[in-house]
Amino acid sequence: MNARPTVKSATTAAALHPILAERWSPRGFDAGHELTTGQITALLEAPRWAPSANNSQPWRFAVTQRGTDAFKAILSSLTPRNQAWAHAASALIVVAAETVKSDGCPSRWALVRHRAGGSAPHCAGRA
Ligand SMILES: Cc1cc2nc3c(=O)[nH]c(=O)nc-3n(C[C@H](O)[C@H](O)[C@H](O)COP(=O)(O)O)c2cc1C
Repeated sequence: MNARPTVKSATTAAALHPILAERWSPRGFDAGHELTTGQITALLEAPRWAPSANNSQPWRFAVTQRGTDAFKAILSSLTPRNQAWAHAASALIVVAAETVKSDGCPSRWALVRHRAGGSAPHCAGRA
């Protein structure tokens, strides 16, 4: 692994909260690093508390850890460009939305508007 800095801060026109200013999209990972169960739980706690319409909480997270068949299956579903960096990640997390409500009716907005779509940024902010 090279020694690039893991903390970077955007040069902004106005002050931003560090959670926003220091957010960036990493594509280089330490292929030897492993997340503990506690770290994964901590990572998912923020999106678990994201707001959702009618408090329906339609998000579902499938966590796969490197070295497992589930991880390989998720990796193989990515584009080659994304596989090039994702293979070394400690975990790949699939964010899914429950698109049918408990009464059997379709939940037309499950993927957007403060539902599953809103929970993913909470997860990224936590990471
Ligand atoms: C909806 C969305 C889809 C994205 N898809 C990919 C992707 O498939 N592969 C990837 O490497 N980055 C992806 N990105 C990350 C963007 O390339 C990245 O946010 C952009 O280059 C700005 O860099 P930064 O996030 O480090 O500020 C995606 C970002 C968003 C918001």
